[in-house]
Amino acid sequence: MLEKDILEVLVSEEQIEEIAQRLGNQLSEDYRDKFPLVIGLLKGCIPFMGKLMTRMDIHMEVGFMDVSSYHGGIESSGDIKINKDLGIPVQDRHIILTEDIVDTGRTLKVVMDLLTYRGAKSVEIATLLDKPEGRIVTLEPKYVGTTIPKEFVVGYGLDYEEKYRNLPYVGILKPEVYNK
Ligand code: IMP
Repeated sequence: MLEKDILEVLVSEEQIEEIAQRLGNQLSEDYRDKFPLVIGLLKGCIPFMGKLMTRMDIHMEVGFMDVSSYHGGIESSGDIKINKDLGIPVQDRHIILTEDIVDTGRTLKVVMDLLTYRGAKSVEIATLLDKPEGRIVTLEPKYVGTTIPKEFVVGYGLDYEEKYRNLPYVGILKPEVYNK
């Protein structure tokens, strides 16, 4: 049913599996003995963070924050709001922020600065997708699944008006869906 609204599959289920395995191995090496705090930014992080953490063979703690930048449309508003804070002290912790996508970078920049201000020892980003052409602030995610062009995509956590997050792959939405 959801598939009829998708113009093109950009990152398939198989590719997502490979990405999670590759990044999971890399993170396991880099964070061995560091007991990282893996923070997911709700709600887009859910499928990717879920898969990625099961591909990491080390001890970790998980936490969530809900920070919004998009308000239902397809353009970033630049207006960032913390809807749910972490609730875990981050002093001297190594943080891995997991995201579905980095676009302008504004959301993550705000969160990274906040965690650094609260005393985190290190903060790195693990993202399924990176749209470097969309970048407005200087931000270099260290762990990137794959780079995509400046297209509006949905699926695997990414939504359009709260829908399509449950697609098992990442795809480009047919323009008529959001021109309705
Ligand atoms: P940034 O602050 O512009 O980097 O925005 C990051 C957030 O914007 C992501 O967590 C998504 O929620 C949303 N976003 C950015 N690009 C897309 C897209 O192509 N589809 C759906 N949501 C997107």
